[in-house]
Amino acid sequence: MDDQKTMKFIAFLALLPALGLSCQINYDVWLDGRCFRQNYQTSNTYSNTFDICNKENAHLPVIKSRDDNDQFISSLAHQFGYAFWLGLICDGKKFVWADGSELTYNNFAADYTCSNATVDRRYFYGNDQLWYEVLTGNYYGVNNVVCEAKERSASTCDSFDLLQTGQATDICYKLQQKTTTWQDAESTCNKEAAHLAVIHDPKLNDFIRRTAVSAGILGGVHIGIQNNFTTNTYKWADGSEIDYDNFKPGFPNPKLGDCSMMDTNSVAGQWVNIGCQNTPLPFVCTKPAFVASNPQPAGCPSKKQYTNGDEIFSPSFPQAPGASVCDYLLMASDTTKKAQVEILFHEMNSCCDTLTVYDGTVGSNMLGSFTGYHPTPINIIANSNAIRLHWNATSGVHVRGFHARML
Ligand SMILES: *[C@@H]1O[C@H](CO)[C@@H](O)[C@H](O)[C@H]1NC(C)=O
Ligand SMILES: *[C@@H]1O[C@H](CO)[C@@H](O)[C@H](O)[C@H]1NC(C)=O
Ligand SMILES: *[C@@H]1O[C@H](CO)[C@@H](O)[C@H](O)[C@H]1NC(C)=O
Repeated sequence: MDDQKTMKFIAFLALLPALGLSCQINYDVWLDGRCFRQNYQTSNTYSNTFDICNKENAHLPVIKSRDDNDQFISSLAHQFGYAFWLGLICDGKKFVWADGSELTYNNFAADYTCSNATVDRRYFYGNDQLWYEVLTGNYYGVNNVVCEAKERSASTCDSFDLLQTGQATDICYKLQQKTTTWQDAESTCNKEAAHLAVIHDPKLNDFIRRTAVSAGILGGVHIGIQNNFTTNTYKWADGSEIDYDNFKPGFPNPKLGDCSMMDTNSVAGQWVNIGCQNTPLPFVCTKPAFVASNPQPAGCPSKKQYTNGDEIFSPSFPQAPGASVCDYLLMASDTTKKAQVEILFHEMNSCCDTLTVYDGTVGSNMLGSFTGYHPTPINIIANSNAIRLHWNATSGVHVRGFHARML
């Protein structure tokens, strides 16, 4: 990057708001840090789709520019090649979007106007990327449900409390004193983009136990361990492996159930497995926090080569990287060993940003390609002693980028 570009880049970063949570469950960070979800579902009327989005704390999608319309929104919805309802209505005087903004860009198929007479009309995005008006959306069905989540919060933890771990990732947690089954507790956590407590080290385990005990909870709390039926092994509710094990001797016991709790009465805060539907308990939700108080430098790192144990970041992590292209070379210190990298966290706009992992110092043998949001570690082993990471963000707006570690 030449100096002038660097200056612009830095000026641009300074304008970005502080970043908070990522998208809610089932939503993908898609475009400019905005969260969308799409699925194929035949013959959805307007009101049916409106209700689906509304129940998920979302609204029908908003399109603000030609690029979004022609490239990014279309690439989201046209995975199945069918139309979807737009979050556009006529309020009697003017067109307004579901997020409250006025219509500034349109791609109407004809010269539609907004007046008292057209307040009941509805609009959908067609296969040809044009927007069509229908007299009433309740007799007309389209085959895609597309919802856009309401704004992400700008606070680090929302209604959760922040636990500073002293490690790269802080943790947001919330103790819920109301007793409920494991299954309902996990759903409650999911509504706030969290899971039942995911615990990868004894310090956090101890912290959660003390938090429960200080609230007078001695009969145990639900934690996020559940049997994964695909593999028939216990995993954390966010899909990560149980790499720190604090089960009581003899547990998990396959006869006792597929979910789990922490015994808060014992100092060790040990775990036992229980039924998912039949043991009401208080619970603790957790999710990763990203505090932008100490960001990485802007621009690609000057470091030329990484080796075992090194941390690797996108520009400005965990602040928005902006448009940027960087290459990272990872070499195993023991050249007879296969190189291994763990992508601890990534958040990119699925429309426009990718992290590609290649095997070896040259060549195009791809080990994986990543975009969107993934808050838990992904482990990649090369066939050789080297890995190349290629970061290409053409947007990089309102997302945090990636954090990886060479193992
Ligand atoms: C639109 O409706 C409002 C309230 O019903 C009425 O006062 C106004 O005259 C109407 N305007 C037109 C152009 O029909
Ligand atoms: C269960 O394990 C499979 C295979 O490892 C994985 O793809 C899936 O995401 C896991 N499910 C959950 C709920 O973690
Ligand atoms: C980055 O990605 C964009 C969009 O996919 C592509 O056009 C461009 O060639 C890529 N640049 C590099 C250096 O890989």
